[in-house]
Amino acid sequence: MATQSATARDILSDELAEKREEIVELLTRAYWMEIETVMSYIANSINLDGVRAQEIRESLGEDIEEELGHAQEFGKRIKELYGVVPGSLEFHAEQHELQPPDEQTDLVHVIKGVIAAETGAIEHYNRMIEATDGIDWVTQDLVIGILHDEQRHRRLFEGFLREFEVAA
Ligand SMILES: [Fe+2]
Ligand SMILES: [Fe+2]
Repeated sequence: MATQSATARDILSDELAEKREEIVELLTRAYWMEIETVMSYIANSINLDGVRAQEIRESLGEDIEEELGHAQEFGKRIKELYGVVPGSLEFHAEQHELQPPDEQTDLVHVIKGVIAAETGAIEHYNRMIEATDGIDWVTQDLVIGILHDEQRHRRLFEGFLREFEVAA
């Protein structure tokens, strides 16, 4: 009996089809957030100008690959849960804070935009960890790992912001 109930509770079972779809929707949103972050970080890592921009540019440049890896991980998990990774026409941009500043030396604008994007991801991933709790351990495990990366990114940029606010 114990084995049967364990099988019924697996996220790939028919019984959990509805829950699975809900998780695929959460994963799809996470996927798009990562894709948009890649676009925003590419643009800002190239655009920024000035002596003090170098560190920020390099840091964003390093994050691009990590965020791209997150998008790929989310996409693979969508497929494992019988979903389909969406095509580009379904993309809707949301990262208003990460649009290029009026002046490309405005590092604080970009740093605050990065913190906003990372915070948005952290909030969504915390929701996903709750939504998958006790139901889909594999997705939960994946999201916990990615959440750790985003917390690390946010902490790094909070440190940058602190330095610029002291200097200002
Ligand atoms: Fe990410
Ligand atoms: Fe990040």
